[in-house]
Amino acid sequence: MSEVAKIEYNGQVYELPVVTGSENEKGIDIAKLRGSSGGLITLDRGFKNTGSCESAITFLNGEEGILRYRGYSIEELADKADFLEVAYLLIFGELPTQEQLSKFDADIKAEAHVDEDVKRILDGFPKSAHPMGVLSALTSALIAFNPSSVNANSEEEMYQAIVKIMAKFPVLTAWAHRKRMGLPLDYGDDNLGYVQNFLKMMFKKPNAEYQENKIITNAIDKLLILHADHEQNCSTSTVRIVGSSHAGLFASLSAGISALWGPLHGGANQAVIEMLEAIKADGGDTKKYMGKAKDKEDPFRLMGFGHRVYKNFDPRAKIIKVAADEVLGDLGVEDPVLGIAKGLEQEALSDAYFVDRKLYPNVDFYSGIIYRALGIPTEMFTPMFALGRLPGWIAQWREMRLKGEPIGRPRQIYTGANARDFKDIANR
Ligand code: ACO
Repeated sequence: MSEVAKIEYNGQVYELPVVTGSENEKGIDIAKLRGSSGGLITLDRGFKNTGSCESAITFLNGEEGILRYRGYSIEELADKADFLEVAYLLIFGELPTQEQLSKFDADIKAEAHVDEDVKRILDGFPKSAHPMGVLSALTSALIAFNPSSVNANSEEEMYQAIVKIMAKFPVLTAWAHRKRMGLPLDYGDDNLGYVQNFLKMMFKKPNAEYQENKIITNAIDKLLILHADHEQNCSTSTVRIVGSSHAGLFASLSAGISALWGPLHGGANQAVIEMLEAIKADGGDTKKYMGKAKDKEDPFRLMGFGHRVYKNFDPRAKIIKVAADEVLGDLGVEDPVLGIAKGLEQEALSDAYFVDRKLYPNVDFYSGIIYRALGIPTEMFTPMFALGRLPGWIAQWREMRLKGEPIGRPRQIYTGANARDFKDIANR
């Protein structure tokens, strides 16, 4: 028998169906509440308790620190799969056969070029422009060069749009980097794998052969997998809500990139390193900054700590922490900010303020440290996150369109002025 929840208001009881997910999570379906109660809505600032959809892509249990893509644990995927396989899994629902993967790879390679005119748009940006702004603008601009709108009833059209953006986004990400560094733009090499090719497009110097470093390629591959999806977070919800108006895939992704940019979301990886640098420049006194983070009068927050859903540990952070130690060891990197990071981590893990509020290091605390060790400039950290999150955004957008979800349009409780008469400007 299906379960119901009851809401009593003004002596009237409203019965609402309870929806159960495949991992036994429960949600009260309030779709009919407003209509049957004459206007009652639910209010949930920041959507802390509100599900926006039913989704079969990613399962996350914040209390137990579990993250699975399409049923596969993040630990196993990070260990055994590569980024393109994980992208296919997220988008299409199953791990690809060798034949499916080879076709996906070949189709992406066939589209791995960007119209030369896009370079002129890039040229218009100052070198100092933040690469997230550049990426969001260029992703949106791609629509002008690939104008066919996506017919969600055609699997083929959807597939073509997906392949195009999977192919062109790494080019744009690398270009945003090269522009900042004053390097000539590069198109990469069809003979390389997805991640290898991306790194070549980023780092190839005009006067030298590009030498691949396998440690770096493997670490980046793993980081991209760990960032590939995270169910209904801020940027993914943005992609879904923009897409729900039937705006195209590229426009929806461009909005998602802007949402990811903020320091409370993907921008945290940049903010972590900037914070560690600032602590170092201020004499390296971690206790002083712990005190600031706990002081409610001080706006300072310990960047890279805390998470909306993980209240035990962030499983991605566990994997990255091990990878960070390995990569730094293998590359022989000795970084003074690492000592500060370790000091903060130790203090926070044994401090009552952080323990009581269940604030643990999140994925961004360690990812910035690895990116820095790999020679990726701080401002490129969040674009790296965007490249990793691309398949997740695509998968969520595709699921939303295939299900024919209605346009996203929340309600509000109005708290402004009541009706009043217009005052002529002379009488105000
Ligand atoms: N430093 C100090 N105090 C913190 C921190 C922090 N990093 N994070 C949360 N708190 C405190 C809050 O002040 C609050 O204290 P109170 O209960 O005494 O008022 C309590 O912990 C709960 O915090 P909320 O802000 O209510 O938690 P919320 O779920 O809304 O925020 C967030 C989560 C945004 C991630 C927050 O922890 C934060 O700002 N962290 C730093 C930024 C960061 O690392 N973001 C990356 C997130 S991961 C990602 O997007 C991939």
